[in-house]
Amino acid sequence: MKRKASYDRREMHGNPLHDGLRIEPTPGPTTLVIFGASGDLTRRKLLPAVYRLSRRGRLPAQFAVVGISRTPMDDESFRAQFRDSLKEFAGTGAGVDEVAESLASRMFYVSGETDDAGLYERLQARLADVNGAEGVLFYLATPPTVYAAAIEQLGASGLADAPGRGWRRIVVEKPFGTDLDSARALNRLAHQHFDEDQVYRIDHYLGKETVQNLLVFRFGNGMFEPVWNRRYIDHVQITAAETVGVEHRAAYYEGSGALRDMVQNHLMQVLSLVAMEPPIAFTAESVRDRKMDALLSAQPLVSNGDGTSPATSHVVRAQYRAGWVNGVEVPAYRGEKGVAAGSVTETYAAVRVHLDNWRWAGVPFYIRTGKRLPKRTTEIAIQFRRPPLEIFRRASHASVAPNLLIVNVQPDEGISLRFETKLPGTRMQVAPVMMNFRYGTTFGSEVPEAYETLLLDAMLGDPTLFARHDFVETSWALVEPVLDAWRATSGDIPTYEAGEWGPAEADDMMARDGRRWRSL
Ligand code: BG6
Repeated sequence: MKRKASYDRREMHGNPLHDGLRIEPTPGPTTLVIFGASGDLTRRKLLPAVYRLSRRGRLPAQFAVVGISRTPMDDESFRAQFRDSLKEFAGTGAGVDEVAESLASRMFYVSGETDDAGLYERLQARLADVNGAEGVLFYLATPPTVYAAAIEQLGASGLADAPGRGWRRIVVEKPFGTDLDSARALNRLAHQHFDEDQVYRIDHYLGKETVQNLLVFRFGNGMFEPVWNRRYIDHVQITAAETVGVEHRAAYYEGSGALRDMVQNHLMQVLSLVAMEPPIAFTAESVRDRKMDALLSAQPLVSNGDGTSPATSHVVRAQYRAGWVNGVEVPAYRGEKGVAAGSVTETYAAVRVHLDNWRWAGVPFYIRTGKRLPKRTTEIAIQFRRPPLEIFRRASHASVAPNLLIVNVQPDEGISLRFETKLPGTRMQVAPVMMNFRYGTTFGSEVPEAYETLLLDAMLGDPTLFARHDFVETSWALVEPVLDAWRATSGDIPTYEAGEWGPAEADDMMARDGRRWRSL
């Protein structure tokens, strides 16, 4: 019956690629409890994601949201905030349609301090009124300083334990700790009150369509995996470039910097998906085990950990100076609101990672990320080795460019392959061309936001796209010596002009390996 239905639907659209062969499970009755309900993340990401999921028919019939924060508010004001957030962040016209109104009528609010036991009694009572839902998903969208209090109180109040057939899960936003010790402490605390399979550590990069597609690209095809190793690949470059500066987040970013903000979590996740061995099945444990293996094979980024050269020669940090980005003049990081005048927080980081395993020995993975770079783009570039013999060199007077496979994570989602071709004409001239696949043109449909995918997965109880406790800790263990080395380094931090591709030191780092960053 199901097959027939999906066949008909594909016929209707006229293009089977629109729908693919999806099985779309819907979660059972769920109440989403958002801590930090009046915050930025809730307004920008979570409420719009709930709305879009509802529009796509992916939410259960019995669904409710309970917002929690310190701000005194009643249900009606929370509903008004929901409508406003849709108008601002979910596209024109949203916020006033039937879907939004139906959702608004199922939104409730409880105010209080996260460390006050009374809040949890009120929440308990509210949950009972709402629908006595079997499933409750607690979402910590608060500043990280209150995670511990919320987890403890959820445990102490009994809210972490589900009665009967129900379930309780908790989503913890990033940053998950600020170093190895704090991440371990948070894991320990979470495990005192929840089982690991109830804890969903979110990394929104894992919810991005293109990042998930890495698994399909590698393990859903027969032709790429045989060349996905040190025999054929020269090196890998992972770039996450942003044009924005620190925005209004100096209070957080000053204590974080690019390595903690982007590398320890998002980019290590991406690296592990590129590098992992094939899982035996597409199950959470198998996928996460293989990702862990990859991460565990990473060699220390800083060899002696005391910050002296050359130990840190494959680790670069820098901070943006004033400059121009996309034709707009922008201030230096140190001139941004809330940033200390002598701040040494890095807004750019580049590292070389070596994975000491059978597949990747000798293949460097270069990672770079920065704010106020010339272009917003995230990509993974796999550069293959040159052909063993350059038989066209003589005729063509040029050496051939190595093959390159580029996964465009954003904004222009897709995959491109660069290969050499003969230029038309009577002479034997060789030049590189690109073969491109673009999500937009091929599927023509809107790519879901990472938060939609991840919220739905958490409601369904599928942790595949969430960070496991051991991954988070191992990743902290990898970057921490770099942070220590930087802290121990005297002198000022290197800089780059806003609107340029990072500092000269990052180019030097590549040059020492006889390579260059891709120009994007
Ligand atoms: C967040 C970081 O996790 O990711 C931000 O805290 C960064 O500093 C953002 O801007 C980038 O996400 P995206 O999805 O825009 O690449």
